[in-house]
Amino acid sequence: MIKDNYGRAVSYLRLSITDRCNLNCFYCRPCRNTRFIPHNEILTYEDMFYLLEVVSRMDVQKVRLTGGEPFVRRDILYFLNRLKNSFPELDIRLTTNATLIAGKIRALKDIGIKGLNISLDTLDREKYQRITGRDFLNNVLTSIDRCLEVGIRVKINVVALKGVNDHELEDFVNMALSRPLDVRFIEFMPIGQKTLWQKEHFWSSDEILQSAQKITELKPVADKDMNHGPARIYSLPQGQGRIGVISPLSNHFCLTCNRFRITADGRLRTCLFSDKDYRLLPLIRSPRINNDQLKKVLERAGLKKPMGHEIMGRNNKDRKSICERVMSSIGG
Ligand code: 5AD
Repeated sequence: MIKDNYGRAVSYLRLSITDRCNLNCFYCRPCRNTRFIPHNEILTYEDMFYLLEVVSRMDVQKVRLTGGEPFVRRDILYFLNRLKNSFPELDIRLTTNATLIAGKIRALKDIGIKGLNISLDTLDREKYQRITGRDFLNNVLTSIDRCLEVGIRVKINVVALKGVNDHELEDFVNMALSRPLDVRFIEFMPIGQKTLWQKEHFWSSDEILQSAQKITELKPVADKDMNHGPARIYSLPQGQGRIGVISPLSNHFCLTCNRFRITADGRLRTCLFSDKDYRLLPLIRSPRINNDQLKKVLERAGLKKPMGHEIMGRNNKDRKSICERVMSSIGG
């Protein structure tokens, strides 16, 4: 088991399988010429298997594949299939922009993928193009409905951006009323050195909930099994879905953080907000390092897992950026 000094145990691994993305969302990958990590510095599927073999024996029960955009990585279905066969107990999920999954949804269901988190910040076609640089909104909406049809759970991640999508609250609430899915608003975080974070864009969870309550009744859902992660979830008595808010800035959830993040170039980050990382790739590939040694490195890193809000506290005055790396290379 990976334990830290605050009594938290790590049971959840977020694995960024590529830093590449087919979209260019201004808040995530702010400079179009962001350098991609060269191929030989990216974890291969073999590297990832090895790492997962080690962590699955350390009580990690859930893995989320992120990016960049995970579906730009070649042979991802083959990889998912092999993962599921090798680790049948592992809860495998993905975070995706859903622009590339249209022909793969049935296969995802057959492989046993229970849920997708889909990043979608607007329901307006032109705005979607402005935010992402691509005209894929209709494609994404069709795929969302197809996922629900085949029985894949869907959570929509909306980065809450005042002046950008705050006027669409009602549309998002209607989406959750009319479909059995979760719409979760994530407070915009100042991530990445060249972050475009500005106070004017900050739309807090409390404001979102207050406004949503005027549209429809919200009923808090207790998180008995800690399934909601950092989200606060509300069911909608007048509809099928749920609304959630994730408030990294206004409401810290570090105390219950159970996660490790691995970047596409194999660096372990024990906290989203800390730039301290551990280069695992050379250890994974070294013939001189065995499972047990890798396990020890993970355990030792776990002991030093910080409380993120302390790091944010230090930056709170100017809220410039809380970490150097752009979100597209960390995976959310
Ligand atoms: N603040 C909040 N959320 C962000 N995401 C990406 N960048 C930011 C940011 N600066 C979201 C993505 C994705 C999730 C993992 O994180 O849209 O849905």
